[in-house]
Amino acid sequence: MSTLALNNVRPYGEDVTNILINTADGVIAEIAGTPFTDADDAIDCGGNILLPGLVDMHVHLREPGREDTETIATGSDAAAKGGFTAVFTMANTQPVIDQPFLAEAVWEKGQAYGTCDVYPVGSITQGLAGEQLTEIGLMSRSHVRMFSDDGRCVNDPQLMRRAIEYAKAYDVILAQHAEDHRMTADACAHEGETAAKLGLRGWPRVAEESIVARDIIMTRDYGGRYHLCHASTEGTVELLRWAKGQGIEVTAEVTPHHLLLTDECLNTYDGNYRVNPPLREARDTIALRDALLDGTIDVVATDHAPHGSEDKCVEFEHAKPGMLGLETSLAVVAQVFVQSGLADWRFVAKVMSERPAEILRLKDQGRPIAAGEPANLTVVNPDATWTVHGKELKSKASNTPYEEMAFNARVELTLLRGAVTYDATSN
Ligand code: DOR
Ligand code: ZN
Repeated sequence: MSTLALNNVRPYGEDVTNILINTADGVIAEIAGTPFTDADDAIDCGGNILLPGLVDMHVHLREPGREDTETIATGSDAAAKGGFTAVFTMANTQPVIDQPFLAEAVWEKGQAYGTCDVYPVGSITQGLAGEQLTEIGLMSRSHVRMFSDDGRCVNDPQLMRRAIEYAKAYDVILAQHAEDHRMTADACAHEGETAAKLGLRGWPRVAEESIVARDIIMTRDYGGRYHLCHASTEGTVELLRWAKGQGIEVTAEVTPHHLLLTDECLNTYDGNYRVNPPLREARDTIALRDALLDGTIDVVATDHAPHGSEDKCVEFEHAKPGMLGLETSLAVVAQVFVQSGLADWRFVAKVMSERPAEILRLKDQGRPIAAGEPANLTVVNPDATWTVHGKELKSKASNTPYEEMAFNARVELTLLRGAVTYDATSN
């Protein structure tokens, strides 16, 4: 048996222990109170925190079609640097992932590269055109566990009803980007005081909430596994809370940027702050934090959306929506919840690993840190102050909204099935 020891680690930020990994089969072999000194390789983790490898339900890796902004390889490396061992890459590529062979190609490329498990998300409608459903059943046999037209909303209620029924029949997840496009034409900012002052066309909360309300009722009546992408408003939180109270099976995600930033960032007119749904107001941010804390929102997902500088360093209303997230999300979540004292590292493990793995039924992710479990792990230093510089990120793009911001938590090491996929000391 070839072995790797992670000595002197604190699982979930709790007591110090030592982990022995069987690297041949990628499984945790043993956990003991004394360091493993005769392992083939040993890393002294200096009392850092050990978490199950993070799982991101929502990223855009841009391959196929926009490999100039991100590829499955560069996105996998960004993911590993961010502590992730599995990501779900959205279907809004060129071509759209609307056929089984395209989904298979994404999965196989990710596996061949090998630094992160990259699961393809299939589109709900062909070409994201919102007219005809894709072959949900066929794609569900080609590594697709989740379907989404993300970037676009399935606006047509009759089509959405059919999608829910098919998704139920094939026991897959439907993830909705909730935006009534008729209410957001030309909008580039949250509809509120800031947009009014800056002269930007606003996207009202109701454009999201009306779709969320409709979809919740549809899920109540037609069943299935409905997931809401990037919840962004206080009203959405109230609707989700009502739905869960009724026993309706909906799940939801929130992005790090909606947890930390508000539309006041737009005062700079910096295109890096343009995102869909837009940054909202403080009361939304607070409601989203509370919702994640009490389980109304299930998970954090980054919506990692790389764009080239030609699409970001332009007038605000011409900037493409989207922000990088993979390499900063753990730092943001640690700052908002752990450093503030709102929650502990167990909570971080839950919302960034266990819960997403559970929702997507990944058997080998989000598992307890215990002997016999897969060695998908991430080591985090909670006190390594670092500053974000877009140009230094692994991502091919550099459109981070956190440029020059300092954070405390930093990923030191990521392991996928016992193999090191990121090591801060050699990067
Ligand atoms: O800001 C966003 N960017 N929101 C989306 O829904 C899509 C994404 C993208 O693909 O760039
Ligand atoms: Zn979206």
